[in-house]
Amino acid sequence: LKATLTLDKNYQIDKVDDRIYGSFIEHLGRAVYGGIYEPGHPEADEQGFRKDVIELVKELNVPIIRYPGGNMVSAYNWEDGIGPKEERPRRLELAWRTIETNEVGTNEFVDWAKKVGAEVMMAVNLGTRGIDAARNLLEYTNHPGGTYWSDLRRSHGYEEPHNIKTWCLGNEMDGPWQIGHKTAYEYGRIANETGKAMKLVDPTIELVACGSSSSEMPTFPEYEATTLDLAYDQIDYISLHQYYGNRSNDTPNFLAKNLTMDHFIKSVIATCDYIKAKRRSKKTIKLSFDEWNVWYHSNDADKQIEPWTIAPPQLEDHYNFEDALLIGSLLITFLKHADRVKMAAMAQLVNVIAPIMTENEGRSWKQTIFYPYMHASVYGRGISLKPILSSPKYDSREFTDVPYIDAGAVYNEENEEVTIFLVNKHLESAMPMDIDLRSFEGYELVEHIELVSDDLKAVNTADHQAVAPQQNTHSKLDGGILTAHLSKASWNVIRLR
Ligand code: AHR
Repeated sequence: LKATLTLDKNYQIDKVDDRIYGSFIEHLGRAVYGGIYEPGHPEADEQGFRKDVIELVKELNVPIIRYPGGNMVSAYNWEDGIGPKEERPRRLELAWRTIETNEVGTNEFVDWAKKVGAEVMMAVNLGTRGIDAARNLLEYTNHPGGTYWSDLRRSHGYEEPHNIKTWCLGNEMDGPWQIGHKTAYEYGRIANETGKAMKLVDPTIELVACGSSSSEMPTFPEYEATTLDLAYDQIDYISLHQYYGNRSNDTPNFLAKNLTMDHFIKSVIATCDYIKAKRRSKKTIKLSFDEWNVWYHSNDADKQIEPWTIAPPQLEDHYNFEDALLIGSLLITFLKHADRVKMAAMAQLVNVIAPIMTENEGRSWKQTIFYPYMHASVYGRGISLKPILSSPKYDSREFTDVPYIDAGAVYNEENEEVTIFLVNKHLESAMPMDIDLRSFEGYELVEHIELVSDDLKAVNTADHQAVAPQQNTHSKLDGGILTAHLSKASWNVIRLR
């Protein structure tokens, strides 16, 4: 067994858009209440935001955060979340069947996003509402002043506009579970008309239209094709969502699921370009993979949750080591599509299917998946290089010819750094690798970080970080050839400077 990889500074895919390392906070479970926001917690700041959580989010270097939903946005009245807190209504939150107190709303979230150094990707409600609510919200957030909604914002203590640049036209409108679910035709029309009105309010914004909630949806890819055809001139991005799981406890098959993501991305690119050709357009639609993660561990527990409570522990997946490996492969998949995938959001960020967990009134801690996400976000900024990879392969239940090795690499010209991301999916054997780096003359090996565990099902807890990065000291760089030993079942980050 042996793998080889060639990287050349001239074999470039594209500049990585930092926003592929985005994430998502929905008003769901304990993401907001008891997650990012917990007044009374010893770590709470003057606005009630937990400083310990802010620090963990900053470690991930998250550039953009989608908000406020998710399914929740499709029945959300954004006006409920502005103005004096004591006057805000409590509402039945229909998507997750909880009580929404509206203590946190648009302005508070924008404040929090600033604290963590992220932009906001705001979603509008195209389920129960439409053009009017969307254009009013945009006027509230982005118009400088002198009009009803912008002056209302100023009266709420926000003199300057928030200038939110990126907007999602609804959420998963293809899904029958979505409140106000729409056929592709219905959605394409409302997306176009809402987008048109929003760009009249602020022509500098960028719009993301819903695509499919997963590549398994029966309406995929026709939903994309129809939506794009009806709203092509208004939209800039089409959204993709997909969650992965290991329900049948078949790890080799589970670890191959980045191939599903790869296929999904390629199919959406093809659909976008078909409509581009059909419309004789010069504009190229970009992809926003704005919900992705492993999600299945908490499915049964969620069925036991009583409706109509505040911030119940919904969607609290406890991630294990093999989940972290797949997350690594999914991140590599984004790098390999850096020319078209310009935004992505790990769903979600805190407590709800999340890399960061909190205890109510207690500690916060890092799940296994925190680490590959952090490594990619921190070191994966620059130009994505085309990996010329030769890897032994395996077959699994659903996939054939699965490379044991996944490889992605980023060249940061400014900092004169190269970072190579590798997953070894072989569960029994280490993989020797030769990496040809001869075009990077004068570069030296800084470190080889690895995430390994003898137990694929190992999880982290508040008390014990069973899965955490360590150094692999076996790699050597000699004459431009890096020889590495990738431990069995491992996530690897090889840094050169
Ligand atoms: O992220 C959890 C949920 O998954 C979101 O609310 C929804 O958009 C998707 O189905």
